[in-house]
Amino acid sequence: MNNKIIIINGPNLNLLGEREQSQYGSVSFDKLKENCLKKSKELNLVIEFAQSNVEGELVNIIQDSRNKFDGIIINAAAFTHTSIAIRDALDVFKKPIIELHISNIYKREEFRQKSLISDIVTGGIFGLGTDGYILAIISMQKLLKK
Ligand code: DQA
Repeated sequence: MNNKIIIINGPNLNLLGEREQSQYGSVSFDKLKENCLKKSKELNLVIEFAQSNVEGELVNIIQDSRNKFDGIIINAAAFTHTSIAIRDALDVFKKPIIELHISNIYKREEFRQKSLISDIVTGGIFGLGTDGYILAIISMQKLLKK
């Protein structure tokens, strides 16, 4: 059954609810995780929710996902704009990948307007707040049904 997904979160997302609320809203990381687990259950998906502030750890998580998960939802946070290593690891994962950003990165500073992963993922969601995670889970379920 194609129903296992991992939601991978990059640096500083553990501080959601505390950091820059004007960009990222007031929902805490733990609450976001709880909301994602609830939605996944409703949709009969098994999810893992991961976060790291360390680039190499994220690369390891992505590599390990090849044999464990059917899809990846990733908010690579600041590494979106800098990490060729994360891009290369994602490129080896030959199953659906959804890129996610809470804020609209195209409306922000110029250095955020470039994503190094957009052209290798299946699709993306940005600028819809933490609701984007729920939308990504719904989209991933549809992708996995195909
Ligand atoms: C982010 C946008 C990034 O530019 C930023 O570094 C983040 C979060 C978002 O979810 O909007 O940490 O990925």
